[in-house]
Amino acid sequence: MVCTFLGFTPTEDQLFYSHYPCTRPSTKLSPGLPSPIIFRTGITNFLYFQPMAYKKQLERFAQRYPRIEDLAQKAKKRVPHVAWEYLDAGTGDESLLHHNRTAFQHIRFLPRFCKGVLEATTQTTLFGQTYSAPIGMAPIGLTGLLWPRVEHYLAATAHRLQIPFCLSTVATETPETVGRHVGDMGWFQLYPPKDKDVRNSLLQRAKEAGFHTLVVTADVPMASRRERSKRAGLTMPPKITPRMLWQGMIHPAYSYQTLLRGLPRLRTVEHYTNNNDMKFVSGFVGNRLGGTLDWDYCKELKEAWDGPVVVKGILHPQDAAKAIDSGMDGIYVSNHGARQFNGAVTALGALPAIAKEVNAKVPILFDSGVRTGLDVMRALYLGADFVLVGRPFVWGVAALGKYGGDHVANILIDDLQNNMVQLGVETVDALRKADAVID
Ligand SMILES: Cc1cc2nc3c(=O)[nH]c(=O)nc-3n(C[C@H](O)[C@H](O)[C@H](O)COP(=O)(O)O)c2cc1C
Repeated sequence: MVCTFLGFTPTEDQLFYSHYPCTRPSTKLSPGLPSPIIFRTGITNFLYFQPMAYKKQLERFAQRYPRIEDLAQKAKKRVPHVAWEYLDAGTGDESLLHHNRTAFQHIRFLPRFCKGVLEATTQTTLFGQTYSAPIGMAPIGLTGLLWPRVEHYLAATAHRLQIPFCLSTVATETPETVGRHVGDMGWFQLYPPKDKDVRNSLLQRAKEAGFHTLVVTADVPMASRRERSKRAGLTMPPKITPRMLWQGMIHPAYSYQTLLRGLPRLRTVEHYTNNNDMKFVSGFVGNRLGGTLDWDYCKELKEAWDGPVVVKGILHPQDAAKAIDSGMDGIYVSNHGARQFNGAVTALGALPAIAKEVNAKVPILFDSGVRTGLDVMRALYLGADFVLVGRPFVWGVAALGKYGGDHVANILIDDLQNNMVQLGVETVDALRKADAVID
C-alpha cells in the first residue's frame, strides 16, 4: 500500500523478497535465493523488517507439521468436501490408491556403518538443467478448486527452492501468469489437442512464457469414472448448489480467497473456446483434448517443441522402448496417482522392468504414491532419475498458504538426505549400488 502510494505497486514476489536481508543464508536444503528486490527509499525501508520472516515461518511449520500426512489432515479441514474429494479420489474401489502407498514398504535397505562423517548431496542435473534435488511437482488440473492461485504459489516455491514445477494444460492459471513466478523451473504438461493449431498455439504460449520441458500425458485415453468425486457433487462444469454454498460458508478462509480470485476456471484452454462459460470450456476439454496420442503424434511433438519432451504415464516396458524409438527424451513412469485405471500395476512395481528396458538411454521420471523422502530414495534405487509428487504440494498450500509448498519440498529433501546418511551413502549413484531386500 505504501509503495502504491509512492507511485508503484510491488508484485507479490517483490514484497516477499523485501522481507529479507540481502541474501538468505544458503543451506543444503534450499539454495540461496535470487538477490532480493529491496525498496531502499524512505518509508518503504520498513518492509525490510517485516516480522513474519519466511525463515521463521518455515521453522514454525517444521515444528508443527513435520510429516506430509500432518498437512493432508490440516488441508482436509480447510477446504470444502467436494474439493477434497476431487484431489484425494482414485477410481473404482480405489485399491490402487492403497497399493501405490504400500508398494514402497516392500523395499528394505541394508545400511552400512563406520564410514565417518557423511554428507548427502541431492543436487541433480536433468536435460542439462540443474535442480537442488531430484524432486519436482507433478501437473495437477483444476488446481484452483483446491485453493485459489495454487499454481502461482507453487511456481514461486519452485523458483525459490530450485525444483521443477509442471503446469497442467487444464490448470486454473495460464502459462503467461505462472511463467512470471516460475523462473527457469517451469515444465509444461500437454493433454494433446486434436486440433494442430490449438496444439501449436499452446506450445508457443508455454515456450514464450519460459517453460522449457514438455510433458505429454499418455495415460488418459478417456475420462475415468472417479465415483467419489461424483458422490461429492463435482460436475463439469461445477454447479453452485445449496450443498456447495453450505460448504463454502463453513470454510470461510477458502471462500474469501475464492471470492477474491473468482470461481476456478480453466484459464489456459478457455482462450480457444471464444466463450469463458465453463460449460463450453469443459465441453472443449472433453471433446478436443486427449484420446489422440499415438507414437506419430509424439514424433510431431518432438519436431514442434524446441526442448526435451517426456511421455507421461508409461507402465509397460515395450511402451518405454517405443517412446525412445519415437525420439522422446525421457520416460515418465506413472499411474496418474491411481486416478485413471484401477486395474493397473503400481508405478513402483512397473519401474524395475522399465529401467531394465531403458538401460540408461534416457532419464526415467517417476510419480504416484510418493509421500516421503524415503519413498523418493526407494524410487531412485529402483531406477528412477527424477521423482515427482502430486497431491502433497497442493496439501501444503491448502493447509499453510503460499509458503506451504516450500515446507513440503523441505520435508521431502530433508528426509531424502537423512535417509541417505542412515543408509550410508552420499550420492544417488552410491545409493543405486546399496543393498536392499525386496519382498
Ligand atoms: C487432482 C489431480 C489432478 C491431476 N491432473 C493432472 C493433469 O492435469 N495432467 C496430468 O498429466 N496428470 C494429472 N494428475 C496426475 C499427477 O500429475 C500425478 O501423476 C499424480 O498426482 C501422482 O500421484 P500422487 O498424487 O500420489 O503423488 C492429477 C492428479 C491429481 C491428484
